[in-house]
Amino acid sequence: MEIKKIGVLGCGLMGSGIAQTAATAGFETIVCEVSDEVLGKGFAEIEKSLAKFAEKGTITAEHGKEIRGRLRGVTTFHELADCNIIIEAIIENLDVKRETFKQLDQLCKPNTIFASNTSSLSITEIMTPVSAQRKGRFVGLHFFNPVPLMKLVEVVRTILTDEEVYEEVVKFSAALGKVPARTSDKTGFIVNRLLVPYMLDAIRALEEGVGSIVDIDNAMKLGCGYPMGPFTLGDFVGLDTTYYIAEIMFNEFREKRFAPPSLLKRMVLAGLYGRKTGRGFYDYTADPKNPTPMNLQ
Ligand code: CAA
Ligand code: NAD
Repeated sequence: MEIKKIGVLGCGLMGSGIAQTAATAGFETIVCEVSDEVLGKGFAEIEKSLAKFAEKGTITAEHGKEIRGRLRGVTTFHELADCNIIIEAIIENLDVKRETFKQLDQLCKPNTIFASNTSSLSITEIMTPVSAQRKGRFVGLHFFNPVPLMKLVEVVRTILTDEEVYEEVVKFSAALGKVPARTSDKTGFIVNRLLVPYMLDAIRALEEGVGSIVDIDNAMKLGCGYPMGPFTLGDFVGLDTTYYIAEIMFNEFREKRFAPPSLLKRMVLAGLYGRKTGRGFYDYTADPKNPTPMNLQ
């Protein structure tokens, strides 16, 4: 396989998990953030996750050392210039992603593959500022949270994706230990097309008084065998990210099922992003393992 050196842009919830997964699979991995402070937070999350794997005996102390040795954090794009693939996992905002890829296109080798971890933006729209040659080497690579545990990755082709590049990325996904699902550049791909309306419906059910946060969560968890109820999942994904995704999907499809409910908008405006800010549908500040439901009236 041609892919040996990996660049990851963003070391937040997803970027940190992607970088950890790539290094664990044996790839030299460089992860780029906006500042050393944010980078430090991302690396602290990687340490927590590696500690959990070590506790369970999934990795040995020696393996942990090797993984850390393959991971390097940087704060300038220049360091990504000679990567074979760059996986972007920054904020779900079209303008920011386009500007980022425009700069990377000028810096990177002509054969570097560009991949976006976007949840809902069109890959074709993100890649508009890059050169014609790079457009054939541009894919979506959509991971799931928490990346070190979730086995799926959606591999997204556009109408311009080179067939060989696509197959190379499918092979790379398997080398990361993931199961690739082949999909095309339709907003939300497979999973979010189905998952996002469900999560938004749960918020509408809460607004309409169908049940409380805890009862709706328990209903889906214990009644349907889902690993998390919709509000626990929303807090886990990030309510800011969920809101951006809903807005993008609603703009694309103009269907009510994708429209962000007003409660979600108010929560994001109030800074209640879920676990990452300590409060969302639940309050995690006193005891993160036993969060209490928020009063959102
Ligand atoms: N790294 C390493 N190990 C971890 C971990 C991490 N980041 N997070 C949890 N674990 C381990 C725990 O230590 C625990 O290990 P033991 O079984 O040995 O105790 C195990 O995983 C289970 O964890 P918990 O007991 O804390 O919790 P859980 O049983 O609920 O499992 C979960 C956690 C795997 C996250 C599970 O709840 C789950 O699958 N939730 C649904 C996640 C989901 O739907 N993700 C997709 C979100 S949508 C998306 O990502 C796409 C998008 O575009 C928005
Ligand atoms: P996050 O807010 O946790 O992390 C984003 C990180 O990107 C931040 O740390 C920020 O400092 C950094 N960043 C912003 N601009 C940057 C730049 N120019 N260069 C380098 N770093 C930059 O967000 P997240 O949840 O990790 O989401 C990232 C992407 O992954 C989004 O496109 C999102 O839609 C997608 N995604 C999210 C989930 C999820 O469950 N949260 C799942 C799959 C895909």
